Amino acid sequence: MGNSTQEIHNKIKKLLYSLTGITLADNKDIMISNRIDKLKRDSKFKGDITELLDLIEKGTFVTEFINSFTTNKTHFFREDFHFVDLKNRVLPQLAKEGRKIKMYCSASSTGEEPYSMAMTVLEAKEELGKFIDTSIIATDIDTNVLQYAANGIYRYSKSSKEFPSWIKPAKYFKRRIQKNLSGEEVLIKVKDELKRMISFQVMNLNDSSYPFSSNQFDVIFCRNVLIYFSAEDQNKILKKLFKHLKIGGTLYLGHSENPQDLVNYVDRIGQNIFVKQKEIN
Ligand SMILES: C[S@@+](CC[C@H](N)C(=O)[O-])C[C@H]1O[C@@H](n2cnc3c(N)ncnc32)[C@H](O)[C@@H]1O
Repeated sequence: MGNSTQEIHNKIKKLLYSLTGITLADNKDIMISNRIDKLKRDSKFKGDITELLDLIEKGTFVTEFINSFTTNKTHFFREDFHFVDLKNRVLPQLAKEGRKIKMYCSASSTGEEPYSMAMTVLEAKEELGKFIDTSIIATDIDTNVLQYAANGIYRYSKSSKEFPSWIKPAKYFKRRIQKNLSGEEVLIKVKDELKRMISFQVMNLNDSSYPFSSNQFDVIFCRNVLIYFSAEDQNKILKKLFKHLKIGGTLYLGHSENPQDLVNYVDRIGQNIFVKQKEIN
């Protein structure tokens, strides 16, 4: 039997699941076709898709495959009430302890989320009039978005309203006008002060364990990534992440995500804001 579109799509779903844990719903055929085109472009592979999938199964073009099938939608200060909570509740408490604060952004995409965390720290520092030593580890499975994040250059449109009123972008970004075919666009480049706070690393949340120590983090952002996993896998990821969160530490989840089995081990103190109460036995 030849390889029908459906067979190819099923093979892609299986491969994607085994490599990343991402499950693609049955109504994603158009999206899968578009991503196949991207994969062919990025891998510069001239043969047909079945040959390419066989190669991926054998371990070639794996990075290109993963990078083509991730969904990276994000923006600065997405669900901005989480950053308000970080600034007004979490950071003042931690600043009193006077030790280094460690934060983790578990699906950083192109960097807007960890940079928003870093800007929030600098705002809190100013409000408190106190030095807050902070490090942020930001990971993603997609190497392209990590590269983009590390470069820290973004298109800026005044109308996008990405920044809340308490953030003045000029404090954190250098502006540059760039000419392009359709006229001019404004680019903003993250200043070094923010960059220095963040370390970008590639990591698969589907790995059996994570390269962090127990109770390492005061704050974990895990937003808008669990939605790509089955309920069972979401649970596994949350439990693995939870080990690395300090008791009293805060976990932020995306708007349509929930803490699953962690529910008895956390206090819900706001819209998808959870404070760790105890370890899971
Ligand atoms: C929609 S973006 C969310 C970005 C950001 N957290 C936010 O809320 O705006 C989801 C990100 O999760 C990443 N991702 C998907 N599967 C992953 C996995 N198994 N391990 C790590 N990151 C993964 C994707 O590459 C993508 O950049």
